[in-house]
Formats: sequence, structure tokens, C-alpha cells
Amino acid sequence: MTKKILVTGGAGYIGSHTCIALHEAGYDIVVYDNLSNSSSEAINRVSRLIGQPIEFIEGDIRDAESLRQVFSAHKFFGVIHFAGLKAVGESVAKPLKYYDNNVSGTITLLEVMSEYDVKNLVFSSSATVYGDPETLPIDESSKRSCTNPYGQSKLTVEHILEDLAVSNTSWNLIPLRYFNPVGAHSSGQIGEDPNDIPNNLMPYISQVAVGKLAKLNIFGNDYPTVDGTGVRDFIHVTDLAQGHVAALNYLKDQSSSVGFLPINLGTGKGTSVVELVTAFSKVSGQDIPYQFTDRRAGDIASCYASADKAKSLLGWQAKLSINEMCQDSWRWQSMNPNGYKDKV
Ligand code: NAD
Ligand code: UFG
Repeated sequence: MTKKILVTGGAGYIGSHTCIALHEAGYDIVVYDNLSNSSSEAINRVSRLIGQPIEFIEGDIRDAESLRQVFSAHKFFGVIHFAGLKAVGESVAKPLKYYDNNVSGTITLLEVMSEYDVKNLVFSSSATVYGDPETLPIDESSKRSCTNPYGQSKLTVEHILEDLAVSNTSWNLIPLRYFNPVGAHSSGQIGEDPNDIPNNLMPYISQVAVGKLAKLNIFGNDYPTVDGTGVRDFIHVTDLAQGHVAALNYLKDQSSSVGFLPINLGTGKGTSVVELVTAFSKVSGQDIPYQFTDRRAGDIASCYASADKAKSLLGWQAKLSINEMCQDSWRWQSMNPNGYKDKV
């Protein structure tokens, strides 16, 4: 059986780390990315880390002809589909851009996969599909609802995958619902490289620590949580990458189709914003000045996973601690204060 995997969005933050994990697990990879939110330097560095060039095609998932060329040239076991836009705020301002890229792009990819009879897909979904959860920890059967176009695009793709699995039982479709990915490769060579001022907590903390930003605004300290600040399930991107390998290994072992099979990737543990800031400050030895401001619109108090399904089905569980997440984020940020613009 072929061990070749198409990795859409493989130049991005999670995709680049997953390429390394796939290579280490013996998979051959072809990366397909339009570089709309990433740099070819990430591909160069992944190639260096694995000690061989990566096959990289610059292309868009909405371009069926370009995808056909790729599927004609390679016999894939399956696709890991990271390609997508992910900025919640931008999705509110530009919903059509998000639906076009994330939903139409996925439909085009699925059509081409179908043409070439490639029926195994691992899709980057998100804990955002659970909206404001009624109970914690959140398991895969929890109610789904979304309040912004980004989340809606993920939920819509999940619905499409469910319908596809019903229409033809030969599909194997695993949406992995990521909780809060943070951290970086332990080499410090690859990591998260936001274009602008970061929206997410960990890159913001890192940029305060390295002196690029003056102060962290903590959005709300009146939530019903351990210290009043938001609680999230932070997961090291290296653990997340291993979760994708585990999902593919699982599919390879199946004798019959799995249909639509959503799986959470989280640690199962909640950490508050202040707890994360404190841990980061300790491991980096840097002061992280912060102030409390109003709650951010759309934020929820607490969100953490039940990670039981991933453990029982895939034999996967997160291993790395909050301190390791902070340590590796700091190493990446301090070695590359300007991200991939810093040539090494
Ligand atoms: P990222 O932006 O670093 O990576 C996404 C990659 O997809 C980028 O390299 C981008 O250039 C590429 N891309 C976007 N649109 C494309 C298109 N039309 N054709 C080809 N390539 C395209 O983001 P990430 O953090 O690595 O996230 C990967 C996936 O995981 C995304 O789908 C994202 O929505 C999802 N996700 C991310 C998080 C998170 O917090 N990082 C959480 C949950 C889910
Ligand atoms: N926060 C701050 N200050 C900041 C940034 C964030 O206090 O400058 C707080 C937020 O209020 C929240 C927590 O830190 O309580 C985490 O916020 P992030 O923006 O890092 O992450 P979210 O949980 O809001 O959302 C992220 C991604 C979503 C994804 C979701 C679940 O941005 O796309 O995780 O995977 F859907």
C-alpha cells in the first residue's frame, strides 16, 4: 500500500510540524500550498530538519486543474487537509473570502479526490465548532454551533463530510478538532509566524517577552474560572502533529470504511490565561507585563477537551506539558524574532 500523503497547507504552522512527524513515521509527503499565509522558508527549514528535499507544489485548493495534475503525478493513500484561512476577526469582515477559501476550496479538493479514487481524508477542524459548551470536558458528541464565519466554515465542511460519508460508504473522513495549538519544534527552526500583531495568546506573549510588543492585554478577569481569566486546552503542536500520524495509521489498519469520524485533539486539561503567562515568564526568565481589559467579544469562559476517543481509537495522547509548550515557543521566538524573515 502506498504511504504517500498529500498535505494541503503543509507550509503553515501546524502543517510544517506535521510534515516532520509524517516523515519520521515513514510516510512520503507532497506539500500543496498557495503560500497565502506562509513562507517557502518554512519548507526549506523542514527539508533541512528531515535531511532531504520536500516535494512542494505552489498551488491553490480552489484550482481543480492544478490539483488534477498533482493527483495524476502521484498515487496517494490519503490527504491531510490543513489549507484554510483562520483569522476569526477577518472572517467577520470578509465572510465570502472565508467561505470561498475554506468551503469551496474543500469541495474542489473532495471532487478531485473522488475523481482519482483517493478516499482517505484527515481534516483540520476546530474546537470552535462546539461554540459555548454546555458541559466540560467537551466530547465529540457535544452539540455544535458557531458564531462567526470562520467557525461556520469549519462546521459547514464537517456537515459536507458527514453527507459525503452517507452518500458513499467508501469514504474515510476524520475531522480532527484541535483545541489550542501552541509551541514549536524543539529545534527552534520552525514555529508560528503571524503576519501581523498576533490575535492569539501564545504568539502575543512571546512577542511581549522578546520585546516586540510592550504589554499583554488580558481580555477579562471576571470569568467563572480559577482566577477569573479564560481557560483553554493548550496543546503542543508536536503532540498535535503526532495525532495526525495516529489518525493515518488508524486508517491504514482498517479493513472496512470508517465513514465520518470526528476526534478531539486536546490534552484534557484547562489552563488559565494568567497561569500560562506565569509559566512562560518562569521558563523564559522574561518579565511579561500585562493589564486586564474588557472581555473580547465572542470569547467563552472555559474550553477543554475530553481526549478519551483519541486515546481509545487512535492510541494517541498528548505528552508535552505547559512548561514545554512555553519553552519551545520561547526558543522559536527568541531565535527568530522576525519569524521566517530571519534567515538562519
Ligand atoms: P496556517 O495559516 O499557518 O496554515 C494554513 C496554510 O494553508 C498556510 O500555509 C496557507 O498558505 C495555506 N492555504 C490557505 N488557503 C489556501 C488555499 N486556498 N490553497 C492552498 N493553500 C492554502 O494555519 P495553521 O495554524 O497551521 O492551521 C492549519 C489548519 O488548522 C487551518 O485549516 C486552521 O483553520 C486549522 N486550525 C488551526 C487552529 C490554530 O489555532 N492554529 C485551531 C484549530 C484549527
Ligand atoms: N487572550 C488574551 N489576550 C490576547 C489574546 C488572547 O487575554 O491578546 C485570551 C482570550 O481572551 C482567551 C485565551 O487568551 O481567553 C485564548 O485566546 P486565543 O485567541 O489564543 O484562542 P481562542 O481560544 O480564542 O481561539 C483559538 C483559535 C480559534 C480556534 C480555537 C479553538 O483562534 O480559531 O482556538 O481551537 F477555533
